[in-house]
Amino acid sequence: MTTHVTPPPSAQRRRRVSEDLVAAIHGREAGYPLPSRFYTSAEVFDLDMEAVFGRHWFFAACEAQVPEAGDYLTVDVGPYSVIVLRDDDEQLAAFHNVCRHRGAKILNETAGSVGNIVCGYHYWTYGTDGRLLHAPGAAPDFDSSCFSLKRVHLRCVGGLVFLSLAHPMEGPPADFDETIGRIAPYLEPHDLAHAKVAAQVDIVEDGNWKLVMENNRECYHCEGHPELSSTFFLTYGLKDEEVPARLRPAHDRYVMAQTELELICDRAGLPHALIEDLEEPETGLRIMREPLDGAGESFSIDGTTVCARPLAELPSPRLGRCSLHAQPNAWAHTMADHSVTFAVFPINVEKTLVRTTWLVHADAVEGQDYDVDALTHVWRETNAQDSVFVARAQIGVASPSYEPGPYMPSEYQVDQFVGWYARRLTQYLERETAS
Ligand code: FES
Ligand SMILES: [Fe+2]
Repeated sequence: MTTHVTPPPSAQRRRRVSEDLVAAIHGREAGYPLPSRFYTSAEVFDLDMEAVFGRHWFFAACEAQVPEAGDYLTVDVGPYSVIVLRDDDEQLAAFHNVCRHRGAKILNETAGSVGNIVCGYHYWTYGTDGRLLHAPGAAPDFDSSCFSLKRVHLRCVGGLVFLSLAHPMEGPPADFDETIGRIAPYLEPHDLAHAKVAAQVDIVEDGNWKLVMENNRECYHCEGHPELSSTFFLTYGLKDEEVPARLRPAHDRYVMAQTELELICDRAGLPHALIEDLEEPETGLRIMREPLDGAGESFSIDGTTVCARPLAELPSPRLGRCSLHAQPNAWAHTMADHSVTFAVFPINVEKTLVRTTWLVHADAVEGQDYDVDALTHVWRETNAQDSVFVARAQIGVASPSYEPGPYMPSEYQVDQFVGWYARRLTQYLERETAS
């Protein structure tokens, strides 16, 4: 006799929602954005936290944010909070920021320095290796070795720190070694692991995290960025034949600057070619060394250097920007004089934290080699402008009259971001409904 066990109503509902979302993803027309609910539904947001941030590698921080043993930072992503810390052996480690006693969030500042990790509730005390060292008033037979902090997967490449919240039994995506092999040759010459943080700015944008990312993946809107577009070529994302007549002069300058940049890089043995693999792999990425307009050195209004001391011994100040896009939550530009990194941390369905970090040589002196206002000017303005675009997009996609419209040719990376996301979610949901 076969016994049929009816799943509980909550499981049935979850299955129905999963099937429905998979159908919605499959129903997306190629080259068109996602339907409204992917940006407005708390249920989809929860799923994003499980299927994307709960298992894939994401960019969390720069090594330079935690230069000394005991330095830590915290990263909050949806319901997760993670401690990234340099341990007593000066190695980086990451732990869930959740006390093993009764679960209190242990470290509540964005960054700081500790001898041990102490929970302020009942003072359980953990070493920088995560081991529980002391639980006040514990019974004699209490086995503290069973209550270490839970580790989070951590890998570094070129001074950038990536985390995966994948369960230990499942493990993070296995392609990260390959990712490291692809990114490291571009970033390592800039020695970001030994740089220092010159400035860091957090802004909370009024939009779903995917709208923040989609906005970053195109420059179709870059005429709304007067400061950025003085050095960032507005032809970004366009093939030669797609460049409109009004952008032809800029395109001609781009081609000349790119040729010069390639020559400088080839002579110095610096890689510059485009690697673009944003959609298929679990750890999607794009990296390339691209020219800047004007003086071609840095993000300033005329393209000249904004930090007099270069990041490392490099062949020229005219190295343009080494541009990195990493799914699901990051972009970064590394010039000869500084690097600026962007990490996107979802807060809830319609709020997203964007953390921007400016790195300079560890010995660069503020007020002498660089001025923080000048260093950060272009991207502070650009972030503020992007924040307005994202907020407007969020309001619009929540309207009953929203209907996804077609991506333009220069928006192909938005399509690839959505494609990457759709793949990850589909894989996760199909596995779930099959089990
Ligand atoms: S919850 Fe942390 S010591 Fe009690
Ligand atoms: Fe923008």
